[in-house]
Amino acid sequence: MMKVIRTISELQQELSVQRDAAKSIGFVPTMGALHQGHASLVKRSVVENDVTVVSVFVNPTQFNDKNDLKNYPRDLQADCVLLEGIGADVVFAPEVEEMYPEPDTRVFSFAPLDTVMEGGCRPGHFNGVAQIVSKLFYAVAPDKAYFGEKDFQQLAIIREMVKQLDIKVEIIGCPIVREEDGLALSSRNMLLSAEERERALTISRTLFASVDYAASHSLARTKSFVEEAINATDGLQLEYFQIVDGNTLQEVKEWGDSDYLVGCIALFCGKIRLIDNIKYKEVK
Ligand code: PAF
Repeated sequence: MMKVIRTISELQQELSVQRDAAKSIGFVPTMGALHQGHASLVKRSVVENDVTVVSVFVNPTQFNDKNDLKNYPRDLQADCVLLEGIGADVVFAPEVEEMYPEPDTRVFSFAPLDTVMEGGCRPGHFNGVAQIVSKLFYAVAPDKAYFGEKDFQQLAIIREMVKQLDIKVEIIGCPIVREEDGLALSSRNMLLSAEERERALTISRTLFASVDYAASHSLARTKSFVEEAINATDGLQLEYFQIVDGNTLQEVKEWGDSDYLVGCIALFCGKIRLIDNIKYKEVK
Protein backbone atom coordinates (compact mmCIF):
# COMPACT_ATOMS: atom_id res chain seq x y z
CA MET A 1 0.00 0.00 0.00
CA MET A 2 1.45 3.35 -1.07
CA LYS A 3 2.15 5.82 1.74
CA VAL A 4 1.54 9.56 1.47
CA ILE A 5 3.93 11.41 3.76
CA ARG A 6 3.89 15.12 4.58
CA THR A 7 6.93 15.73 6.76
CA ILE A 8 10.66 15.18 6.37
CA SER A 9 10.96 13.46 9.76
CA GLU A 10 8.23 10.95 8.93
CA LEU A 11 9.82 10.37 5.53
CA GLN A 12 13.22 9.74 7.06
CA GLN A 13 11.73 7.40 9.64
CA GLU A 14 10.05 5.38 6.89
CA LEU A 15 13.16 5.27 4.70
CA SER A 16 15.53 4.34 7.52
CA VAL A 17 13.48 1.17 8.05
CA GLN A 18 13.91 0.37 4.34
CA ARG A 19 17.62 1.19 4.37
CA ASP A 20 18.18 -0.98 7.46
CA ALA A 21 16.61 -3.82 5.49
CA ALA A 22 19.24 -3.14 2.73
CA LYS A 23 16.57 -1.91 0.30
CA SER A 24 17.69 0.35 -2.55
CA ILE A 25 15.84 3.64 -2.94
CA GLY A 26 14.87 5.24 -6.25
CA PHE A 27 13.59 8.80 -6.29
CA VAL A 28 11.54 10.81 -8.78
CA PRO A 29 11.17 14.50 -7.89
CA THR A 30 8.11 16.13 -9.48
CA MET A 31 5.90 19.17 -9.19
CA GLY A 32 2.79 17.03 -9.60
CA ALA A 33 0.15 17.33 -12.36
CA LEU A 34 1.62 14.04 -13.41
CA HIS A 35 1.47 12.64 -16.94
CA GLN A 36 2.92 9.67 -18.79
CA GLY A 37 6.32 11.37 -18.94
CA HIS A 38 6.52 11.29 -15.13
CA ALA A 39 5.04 7.78 -15.18
CA SER A 40 7.91 6.60 -17.38
CA LEU A 41 10.41 7.80 -14.76
CA VAL A 42 8.50 6.17 -11.92
CA LYS A 43 8.13 2.88 -13.81
CA ARG A 44 11.86 2.80 -14.47
CA SER A 45 12.59 3.47 -10.81
CA VAL A 46 10.19 0.71 -9.75
CA VAL A 47 12.06 -1.75 -12.00
CA GLU A 48 15.53 -0.65 -10.84
CA ASN A 49 14.99 -0.17 -7.07
CA ASP A 50 13.36 -1.90 -4.11
CA VAL A 51 11.58 1.26 -2.97
CA THR A 52 10.40 4.17 -5.12
CA VAL A 53 9.78 7.59 -3.59
CA VAL A 54 8.04 10.31 -5.62
CA SER A 55 7.95 13.88 -4.36
CA VAL A 56 5.07 16.14 -5.35
CA PHE A 57 5.94 19.73 -4.52
CA VAL A 58 5.38 22.90 -6.51
CA ASN A 59 8.58 24.66 -5.58
CA PRO A 60 8.03 28.44 -5.27
CA THR A 61 11.72 29.35 -5.42
CA GLN A 62 12.13 28.18 -9.01
CA PHE A 63 9.30 30.32 -10.42
CA ASN A 64 10.50 33.66 -11.71
CA ASP A 65 6.92 34.51 -12.72
CA LYS A 66 4.29 34.79 -9.94
CA ASN A 67 1.40 34.08 -12.32
CA ASP A 68 3.11 30.93 -13.58
CA LEU A 69 3.36 29.73 -9.95
CA LYS A 70 -0.27 30.64 -9.24
CA ASN A 71 -1.57 28.92 -12.37
CA TYR A 72 0.64 25.84 -12.15
CA PRO A 73 -1.74 22.83 -12.22
CA ARG A 74 -2.17 20.95 -8.93
CA ASP A 75 -4.13 17.73 -8.30
CA LEU A 76 -2.54 15.58 -5.60
CA GLN A 77 -5.45 13.15 -5.51
CA ALA A 78 -5.20 12.34 -9.22
CA ASP A 79 -1.40 12.14 -8.89
CA CYS A 80 -1.73 9.57 -6.09
CA VAL A 81 -4.14 7.44 -8.12
CA LEU A 82 -1.66 7.37 -11.01
CA LEU A 83 1.33 6.68 -8.73
CA GLU A 84 -0.37 3.86 -6.83
CA GLY A 85 -1.33 2.25 -10.16
CA ILE A 86 2.29 2.09 -11.34
CA GLY A 87 3.84 0.83 -8.13
CA ALA A 88 5.26 3.88 -6.31
CA ASP A 89 5.83 3.10 -2.63
CA VAL A 90 6.00 6.54 -1.04
CA VAL A 91 4.63 9.92 -2.10
CA PHE A 92 6.29 12.82 -0.33
CA ALA A 93 3.98 15.83 -0.56
CA PRO A 94 5.17 18.51 1.87
CA GLU A 95 3.75 22.00 2.42
CA VAL A 96 5.95 24.97 1.53
CA GLU A 97 6.69 25.61 5.25
CA GLU A 98 8.07 22.09 5.60
CA MET A 99 10.65 22.56 2.84
CA TYR A 100 11.34 26.22 3.63
CA PRO A 101 10.91 26.79 7.38
CA GLU A 102 13.26 29.70 6.69
CA PRO A 103 14.09 31.33 3.38
CA ASP A 104 16.80 29.42 1.54
CA THR A 105 19.55 31.96 0.92
CA ARG A 106 21.97 29.60 -0.80
CA VAL A 107 23.30 30.91 -4.10
CA PHE A 108 24.64 28.36 -6.54
CA SER A 109 26.77 28.87 -9.61
CA PHE A 110 26.78 26.29 -12.33
CA ALA A 111 28.39 28.56 -14.90
CA PRO A 112 28.50 28.26 -17.83
CA LEU A 113 25.67 25.70 -17.74
CA ASP A 114 23.17 28.00 -16.05
CA THR A 115 23.94 31.25 -17.87
CA VAL A 116 22.47 30.18 -21.23
CA MET A 117 18.98 29.35 -22.54
CA GLU A 118 16.56 28.86 -19.58
CA GLY A 119 19.17 30.42 -17.31
CA GLY A 120 19.09 33.60 -19.38
CA CYS A 121 15.31 33.71 -19.84
CA ARG A 122 14.28 32.69 -16.30
CA PRO A 123 16.57 34.46 -13.83
CA GLY A 124 16.93 32.53 -10.57
CA HIS A 125 15.12 29.48 -11.93
CA PHE A 126 18.01 27.04 -11.68
CA ASN A 127 19.07 28.39 -8.31
CA GLY A 128 15.57 27.51 -7.06
CA VAL A 129 15.75 24.08 -8.71
CA ALA A 130 19.11 23.42 -7.03
CA GLN A 131 17.75 24.59 -3.66
CA ILE A 132 14.79 22.23 -3.71
CA VAL A 133 16.46 19.24 -5.37
CA SER A 134 19.38 19.37 -2.92
CA LYS A 135 16.95 19.58 0.03
CA LEU A 136 15.01 16.64 -1.37
CA PHE A 137 18.19 14.63 -1.94
CA TYR A 138 19.23 15.29 1.69
CA ALA A 139 15.76 14.21 2.90
CA VAL A 140 15.43 11.07 0.75
CA ALA A 141 19.11 10.09 0.31
CA PRO A 142 18.26 8.01 -2.76
CA ASP A 143 20.59 5.60 -4.53
CA LYS A 144 19.25 6.68 -7.92
CA ALA A 145 17.25 9.71 -9.04
CA TYR A 146 15.36 10.01 -12.32
CA PHE A 147 14.92 13.14 -14.46
CA GLY A 148 13.36 13.63 -17.88
CA GLU A 149 15.42 14.80 -20.84
CA LYS A 150 12.69 17.25 -21.80
CA ASP A 151 14.25 19.55 -19.21
CA PHE A 152 17.59 18.97 -20.86
CA GLN A 153 19.39 21.89 -19.21
CA GLN A 154 17.97 21.02 -15.78
CA LEU A 155 19.37 17.50 -16.10
CA ALA A 156 22.87 18.83 -16.89
CA ILE A 157 22.65 21.23 -13.95
CA ILE A 158 21.51 18.52 -11.53
CA ARG A 159 24.49 16.39 -12.59
CA GLU A 160 26.78 19.36 -11.92
CA MET A 161 25.06 20.12 -8.59
CA VAL A 162 25.58 16.63 -7.18
CA LYS A 163 29.25 16.88 -8.18
CA GLN A 164 29.66 20.27 -6.49
CA LEU A 165 27.79 19.21 -3.32
CA ASP A 166 29.34 15.74 -3.34
CA ILE A 167 25.95 14.06 -3.02
CA LYS A 168 26.21 10.31 -3.56
CA VAL A 169 23.36 9.62 -5.96
CA GLU A 170 23.28 8.25 -9.48
CA ILE A 171 21.45 10.65 -11.79
CA ILE A 172 19.53 8.92 -14.55
CA GLY A 173 18.24 10.85 -17.57
CA CYS A 174 15.21 9.38 -19.31
CA PRO A 175 13.97 10.06 -22.87
CA ILE A 176 11.21 12.56 -23.68
CA VAL A 177 7.76 11.00 -23.84
CA ARG A 178 5.55 12.40 -26.62
CA GLU A 179 1.87 12.28 -27.50
CA GLU A 180 1.14 10.17 -30.58
CA ASP A 181 1.09 13.34 -32.67
CA GLY A 182 4.55 14.36 -31.40
CA LEU A 183 3.80 16.98 -28.73
CA ALA A 184 6.25 16.53 -25.85
CA LEU A 185 4.35 15.73 -22.65
CA SER A 186 4.30 18.58 -20.14
CA SER A 187 2.13 19.46 -17.17
CA ARG A 188 1.63 22.82 -18.88
CA ASN A 189 -0.08 21.19 -21.90
CA MET A 190 -3.28 20.96 -19.87
CA LEU A 191 -3.35 24.76 -19.78
CA LEU A 192 -3.49 24.98 -23.61
CA SER A 193 -6.81 25.59 -25.37
CA ALA A 194 -7.67 23.19 -28.21
CA GLU A 195 -6.54 25.79 -30.73
CA GLU A 196 -3.26 26.45 -28.87
CA ARG A 197 -2.58 22.74 -28.62
CA GLU A 198 -2.95 22.45 -32.40
CA ARG A 199 -0.48 25.31 -32.85
CA ALA A 200 1.93 23.76 -30.36
CA LEU A 201 2.24 20.78 -32.70
CA THR A 202 4.38 22.97 -34.94
CA ILE A 203 7.14 22.65 -32.32
CA SER A 204 7.76 18.91 -32.54
CA ARG A 205 6.93 18.80 -36.27
CA THR A 206 9.53 21.47 -36.94
CA LEU A 207 12.14 19.82 -34.74
CA PHE A 208 11.62 16.45 -36.45
CA ALA A 209 11.73 18.08 -39.91
CA SER A 210 14.92 19.90 -38.92
CA VAL A 211 16.71 16.57 -38.40
CA ASP A 212 16.10 15.68 -42.08
CA TYR A 213 16.95 19.23 -43.12
CA ALA A 214 20.21 19.07 -41.16
CA ALA A 215 21.39 16.12 -43.26
CA SER A 216 21.96 18.42 -46.24
CA HIS A 217 22.27 21.91 -44.72
CA SER A 218 24.68 23.82 -42.52
CA LEU A 219 24.04 24.25 -38.83
CA ALA A 220 23.32 27.95 -39.33
CA ARG A 221 20.78 27.19 -42.07
CA THR A 222 19.14 24.53 -39.90
CA LYS A 223 18.85 26.99 -37.04
CA SER A 224 17.16 29.52 -39.35
CA PHE A 225 14.88 26.77 -40.70
CA VAL A 226 13.51 26.16 -37.19
CA GLU A 227 13.33 29.84 -36.25
CA GLU A 228 11.49 30.75 -39.45
CA ALA A 229 8.96 27.92 -39.11
CA ILE A 230 8.10 28.96 -35.55
CA ASN A 231 7.97 32.66 -36.39
CA ALA A 232 5.65 31.91 -39.31
CA THR A 233 3.08 30.26 -37.03
CA ASP A 234 0.43 32.57 -35.59
CA GLY A 235 0.20 32.39 -31.82
CA LEU A 236 3.73 31.07 -31.26
CA GLN A 237 6.37 33.44 -29.96
CA LEU A 238 9.91 32.08 -30.05
CA GLU A 239 12.19 32.80 -27.08
CA TYR A 240 15.19 30.90 -28.34
CA PHE A 241 16.28 28.01 -30.46
CA GLN A 242 19.89 26.99 -29.93
CA ILE A 243 21.95 24.08 -31.16
CA VAL A 244 24.29 23.30 -28.29
CA ASP A 245 26.93 20.83 -27.21
CA GLY A 246 24.96 18.34 -25.09
CA ASN A 247 27.53 18.40 -22.29
CA THR A 248 28.59 22.04 -22.04
CA LEU A 249 25.28 23.50 -23.31
CA GLN A 250 27.24 26.10 -25.23
CA GLU A 251 26.13 27.01 -28.75
CA VAL A 252 28.15 25.50 -31.57
CA LYS A 253 28.67 26.87 -35.07
CA GLU A 254 29.35 23.78 -37.20
CA TRP A 255 28.06 20.22 -37.18
CA GLY A 256 31.65 19.02 -36.74
CA ASP A 257 32.17 21.02 -33.52
CA SER A 258 30.90 18.25 -31.21
CA ASP A 259 29.87 14.60 -31.11
CA TYR A 260 26.81 15.44 -29.04
CA LEU A 261 24.49 18.07 -30.48
CA VAL A 262 21.07 19.00 -29.19
CA GLY A 263 18.63 21.63 -30.44
CA CYS A 264 16.81 23.28 -27.54
CA ILE A 265 13.75 25.45 -27.99
CA ALA A 266 11.60 27.63 -25.74
CA LEU A 267 8.57 29.57 -26.83
CA PHE A 268 5.24 30.95 -25.78
CA CYS A 269 2.12 29.35 -27.17
CA GLY A 270 -0.38 32.04 -26.25
CA LYS A 271 0.45 32.68 -22.60
CA ILE A 272 1.87 29.22 -21.95
CA ARG A 273 5.62 28.74 -22.06
CA LEU A 274 6.75 25.43 -23.58
CA ILE A 275 10.15 23.84 -24.10
CA ASP A 276 11.30 20.90 -26.19
CA ASN A 277 14.54 19.54 -27.64
CA ILE A 278 15.87 17.20 -30.25
CA LYS A 279 19.16 15.36 -30.66
CA TYR A 280 21.05 15.86 -33.92
CA LYS A 281 24.04 13.78 -32.96
CA GLU A 282 24.97 11.60 -30.00
CA VAL A 283 28.10 9.47 -30.18
CA LYS A 284 28.22 7.37 -27.02
O1 PAF B 1 11.37 19.18 -13.27
C1 PAF B 1 10.63 19.49 -12.32
O2 PAF B 1 9.44 19.12 -12.27
C2 PAF B 1 11.18 20.35 -11.21
O3 PAF B 1 12.06 21.30 -11.71
C3 PAF B 1 11.81 19.54 -10.08
C4 PAF B 1 13.04 18.78 -10.55
C5 PAF B 1 10.80 18.58 -9.51
C6 PAF B 1 12.26 20.49 -8.95
O4 PAF B 1 11.19 21.19 -8.43
